Amino acid sequence: MKIAVLPGDGIGREVVPVAHEVLKVALPDAEFLHVEVGNERYVREGVSMSPADLETVKACDCVLFGAITSPPGKPYRSIILTLRKELDLYANIRPFRSCPISPRKVNFTIYRENSEDLYMGIEEITGDEARSVRVITRKASERIARAACSKPGIGKLTIVHKSNVLKADELFKDACAQVAKSMNVPFEDMLVDTTAYNLVRAPEKFDTIVTTNMFGDILSDEAAALIGSLGLSPSANVGDRYALFEPVHGSAPDIAGKGIANPFAAVLSAGMLLDWAGRPEMARAVQTAVDRTIDEGVLTPDLGGRNTTLQVQSAILKNLESI
Ligand code: NAI
Ligand code: MG
Repeated sequence: MKIAVLPGDGIGREVVPVAHEVLKVALPDAEFLHVEVGNERYVREGVSMSPADLETVKACDCVLFGAITSPPGKPYRSIILTLRKELDLYANIRPFRSCPISPRKVNFTIYRENSEDLYMGIEEITGDEARSVRVITRKASERIARAACSKPGIGKLTIVHKSNVLKADELFKDACAQVAKSMNVPFEDMLVDTTAYNLVRAPEKFDTIVTTNMFGDILSDEAAALIGSLGLSPSANVGDRYALFEPVHGSAPDIAGKGIANPFAAVLSAGMLLDWAGRPEMARAVQTAVDRTIDEGVLTPDLGGRNTTLQVQSAILKNLESI
């Protein structure tokens, strides 16, 4: 197995090396290809990811990704959007599972459609008027719904939309409902604003959420707060051929370079990679190593601890080796 390692910018460069160390233990035969991409490279070389970099990534089976800083006000398209498109990573899977220090007890997964909606870059500014086009197709809605309905052990699917206002969402809701029916998965639908409310009020009632790209983007940061920190939330971007694994958080310029970024989300993303690679026993071992590290109180400041990223790395590796 060939894995492209793209730390990116900011704390991506601090947390991805930790996940990389974990993968070296869990997949000793894997080959790792390091690729420098992102805004820091753009500033240095005027290019954030070259066509040759993209070819290197495409020659791999999957990608371990950190985060990219998007500079404000520049004509710059984030390479995570390019990668999702080029590798056709249409399902963005984000599990939210609380740990002992989480403020709320939750265990649900958000399946975010990853290929269309407002993120297609169909937009223009004319004088004082700007337009960003929102595209929703039946094909893309059906495939994200199929991915969600295929979640092992799925209990109930919640289809999240805004069909009381938007026609595009009527189509999304209908396409997802048809798929759930055909796959015999119990389902309900919920307006996105009601979902935002219920996620705070009664998050334990959710099992599997399927939603459009932007709603999924926003709701997953809200969900991360329920389990205690963005630094605890992993994700997988999956297509039929490739997959990319990344923490939900961004490059966190406010703490970058201080050595205190929480590596759990990146390490748990590596755990999702192991599941995808057909190594569920190793994925479970990584989860257990993270749980034990949390139980031992080896925590970065975002979780109320005083430890550094490297101290958390040592604890995770020690726990992984003892399993
Ligand atoms: P962010 O997720 O980077 O940070 C939000 C807050 O959470 C900050 O206070 C940060 O310190 C904290 N935080 C995030 N991850 C943490 C971790 N692992 N450990 C400890 N604390 C953590 O979001 P923000 O600040 O809005 O965005 C910063 C940059 O990242 C922007 O340029 C944004 O565009 C980019 N971004 C990139 C993403 C990607 O490449 N997939 C995703 C989200 C944002
Ligand atoms: Mg986001």
